[in-house]
Amino acid sequence: MKRTLDRVLEALNAHPDPDRSWLVGSPWFEPPDELRKAMRDAASAASFDYPPPQGLAELRGAVAELHRRDGLAVEPENVLITHGSKSGLLAVFGCLLKPGDEILHPVPCYPAYPAAITALGGIPVAVPHEDGRSLIDSAALEACITPRTRALVLSSPANPTGATLTGEQARILVDLCRERRLRLVCDEAYEAFRFAPNTDRLPAHWDPDFETVVQVRSFSKTYALCGWRIGYVAADPALIRLLTSWQSALLNPPNSIAQQALISVPAVPPSFIQEAGRRVQNRLDELVGVLADTGLGVHPPQGGFYVWADVRSRLAATGHPDTASWCADLARQHGIGLWPGEDYLAPGWVRASAVACADSDWEPALDRLGTALRSFIDGRNIK
Ligand SMILES: Cc1ncc(COP(=O)(O)O)c(C=O)c1O
Repeated sequence: MKRTLDRVLEALNAHPDPDRSWLVGSPWFEPPDELRKAMRDAASAASFDYPPPQGLAELRGAVAELHRRDGLAVEPENVLITHGSKSGLLAVFGCLLKPGDEILHPVPCYPAYPAAITALGGIPVAVPHEDGRSLIDSAALEACITPRTRALVLSSPANPTGATLTGEQARILVDLCRERRLRLVCDEAYEAFRFAPNTDRLPAHWDPDFETVVQVRSFSKTYALCGWRIGYVAADPALIRLLTSWQSALLNPPNSIAQQALISVPAVPPSFIQEAGRRVQNRLDELVGVLADTGLGVHPPQGGFYVWADVRSRLAATGHPDTASWCADLARQHGIGLWPGEDYLAPGWVRASAVACADSDWEPALDRLGTALRSFIDGRNIK
């Protein structure tokens, strides 16, 4: 899979003091104590056998409890435990698609959607969007629907823009997908990091019987557990049965120790997530401030981990033909890694993550970012 990011990584590898933290979406804060302890206990007690194909029943029960706390009627039979949410997405696309079928996605979008859909023989269809900031335009979406369209996939809060569906936007999308007999695949990897008002109602709230909505979730971001590789899909039992067979046939179930440990997830106090959200939001605000000071086009994100910055006017000023070469030069000269928009199907934009840098490095890293960008942009780099 070809990514323009690889050019940036190559340049960073050649720099004596590279800062890769602006590229990475893995949280710096520590996972909750309850889960760390549960992992230690699980490591000494867990079975060495394959876990059940759909995932441990107790973990599916724990997941159902979390959803019920949010007012969503989910039972253990609605849940499949997956190898992180990325493999959940792969399973969902694998079960919804026949070769040549289409799945719609917004632009910009998480690069895994078009990559996975294409790898499975489907056709990813980008729904055009003018402002690159709000999530999706219903009229543009309708215009893209064909007899081969099976689903719409989107993340809310979105990677990379942070755009987050309001309750009303969620309702409209669910109604539209139901009317047109499409599945609405909701990638909710960042659902715990919603900062904007009126974003507490999710698409699933408007679809209590899971006729339309498929929720794909992750323990990676909410609990800072990217390395445990556990996520899940919540959907109607018939789809869950198909997904379970697909995952069993191709991947087998995810590792039993992490599943066993995550049974304790309902014991994590809500204050853990509230505090994590507050800290992420503070960092995003500071990052927006620094990027805005350098003249890049930025808005405070409505959720998620990233700032999405418009560099189009700066490309012309520095004489770069595209964002990939702009980012590669920034990495080569200053050791700063930003993710080029080309990988998100949005040339002219870059993504900066606020969550990977250690607390002790955060302020110096922000200073270095601002200084490097000002020096890079001020015209002395004209090629
Ligand atoms: C929008 C989105 N979905 C899914 C994932 C995958 O997360 P994981 O496979 O760790 O659950 C990511 C990771 O960055 C993401 O940004």
